[in-house]
Amino acid sequence: MPVRTIIIGTGSQVPETAVTNKDLEARVDTTDEWIRARTGIQQRFIAGDHETNSFLATRASLKALEMAGVRPEKLDLIIVGTLTPDMPMPSVACLVQKDLGASNAGAFDISATCSGFLYGLSIADKFIRTNSNMKILVIGSEILSKRTNWQDRTTCVLFGDGAGAAVVTGTTEDRGILSTHLHADGSLGDLLTIKALGTATPLTPEVFDKGWQYIQMQGREVFKHAVRALESVVNEALEANGWAGGNIDILFSHQANMRILDFLRERLGLPSEKVFINIHKYGNTSAASIPIALDEANRAGQLQPGLRILMVSFGGGFTWGSIAMRW
Ligand code: UT7
Repeated sequence: MPVRTIIIGTGSQVPETAVTNKDLEARVDTTDEWIRARTGIQQRFIAGDHETNSFLATRASLKALEMAGVRPEKLDLIIVGTLTPDMPMPSVACLVQKDLGASNAGAFDISATCSGFLYGLSIADKFIRTNSNMKILVIGSEILSKRTNWQDRTTCVLFGDGAGAAVVTGTTEDRGILSTHLHADGSLGDLLTIKALGTATPLTPEVFDKGWQYIQMQGREVFKHAVRALESVVNEALEANGWAGGNIDILFSHQANMRILDFLRERLGLPSEKVFINIHKYGNTSAASIPIALDEANRAGQLQPGLRILMVSFGGGFTWGSIAMRW
């Protein structure tokens, strides 16, 4: 049997404070009805000042390590997918490495927006295939609330904060990650941006007035590309694994919009119980969305050995991709 990558522990952490759609009605010109109907979101968790990205990531990681029965010093590598790090340097991965006391681990962040966890898990998979004894911590963690314009109703109702983590290692049993497919199209990057705060555009008063320090999205355009890309990457993974006809047990798609999840379910002809949904509780948490979903399903006992699992994501960049695995 070839070496395959298995997930041996999952964990997640969201901030203490939940903000409901009703709460948002008091802040911007929106309604609970509009948000539910257009997105499926009912509430999201918003971080307080002490709940930094690395704080949530570390909490999620401790839970994943405990489930895996792996001590932090046994970790070989920490990979964090995030677009909202505590700071440009040190990386969130290094802050987590310090907080965990993972003294033998390398650590780095990757920038792949909402696909960050899947990109990170794909990288971990390649390491594991060359050394099956490695233990790697893969995290998706975001504080999107600090990059959200709370005066812009077209974006502020969509996003939430949180972190999810998975500990992976190798096996020669007939299970684990079967395929990874990563894609990107930078030519469409302008449709979903945080234009300032990098080195190309200093944060001048003019730039600040334009709101370029915040997430800006042409929602309807992004929606069109998201459904197309997700359908295509699902079909690519199904074909690669001989799972044609939607022959999967659970689909974990990035939780960006309930209507996107409904579209995928209909196109694949899947019953609703096979499409994991938690967007109503968390909103869009970008790179954290898939690992939080995975952890919820895992802790609820939904991930039984042998199940065929397909994870798919789409986000700014654009980036999109899939990972198929047998649990
Ligand atoms: O995670 C990365 C990937 N992200 C995505 O995949 C997100 C994809 N896009 C979407 O999910 C949807 O496009 C949104 C949820 C962002 C927006 O839904 P939509 O059905 O595309 O709405 P829209 O942008 O076309 O706006 C429809 C109307 C507009 O009013 P008019 O011009 O028709 O009078 C908006 O101004 O809804 C208005 N609107 C709102 N009304 C109340 C926009 N936001 C709000 C709001 N409350 N929060």
